Amino acid sequence: MNWRNSNTQWGWVAIGFHWITVFMVISLFSLGLWMVGLTYYDPWYKQGPFIHKSIGVLLFLLTLARLLWRYINITPENFSAHTAWEIRAAQVSHVLLYILLFSVMLTGYLISTADGREVEVFNLFSIPATIYGIEKQEDIAGEIHLALAVILISISLIHALAAIKHHFFDKDSTLKRMIGR
Ligand code: HEM
Ligand code: HEM
Repeated sequence: MNWRNSNTQWGWVAIGFHWITVFMVISLFSLGLWMVGLTYYDPWYKQGPFIHKSIGVLLFLLTLARLLWRYINITPENFSAHTAWEIRAAQVSHVLLYILLFSVMLTGYLISTADGREVEVFNLFSIPATIYGIEKQEDIAGEIHLALAVILISISLIHALAAIKHHFFDKDSTLKRMIGR
């Protein structure tokens, strides 16, 4: 398998970006839901959000790199057996997934920096607060963050089911070329 994309195949760099994203999104979603239920005396009360925010910022940088890589590369062509609406639905959902990823990460940043504090990323570097002090910023951003995260997971699930349908029912290589086969 080539590291760059071709007309028929995703290269391993794009495949790596995709599956690392899947792993990070599922981890962030589960960790997010778990950590908000912790009490002040729990040892993970501070550690949970610290890890969540750090992974979240790394996912943001990874997604920027992914889009740059997509921009400077060709993307595999659509399958001729796919109908026009299937192709359109896939395009729309892929754009939506990228928009949702960025919106979830942005609202997470707005919760974390609501009181002017920067976001520490694994004690490696930090991202400064830029928009803060808005009335009820933490609560409002928190509610939008949760709602968008649930929408992101729901659309990802439909997206995954579509890939599985192509694999088992249509028996085409949509999924195979995203796992490098
Ligand atoms: C795709 C990426 C992300 C996903 C899927 C995600 C998901 C979640 C979920 C499900 C929760 C629980 C919300 C609740 O039950 O109220 C949460 C909480 C939180 N997230 Fe994220 N998150 C992501 C990225 C980020 C980023 C980048 C940051 C900050 C830089 C962040 C900061 C926070 C904070 C501070 C909370 C706690 C909110 C509270 O205490 O109510 N998240 N996240
Ligand atoms: C958090 C979960 C997921 C997210 C956020 C996500 C996101 C994306 C995005 C944005 C693309 C478009 C890539 C591009 O054109 O630049 C894509 C493609 C793809 N995804 Fe996912 N994905 C997720 C989970 C999954 C799962 C679980 C599967 C398989 C069961 C899957 C299978 C595929 C396939 C086969 C493609 C390539 C489609 C094509 O060649 O047109 N994805 N994914």
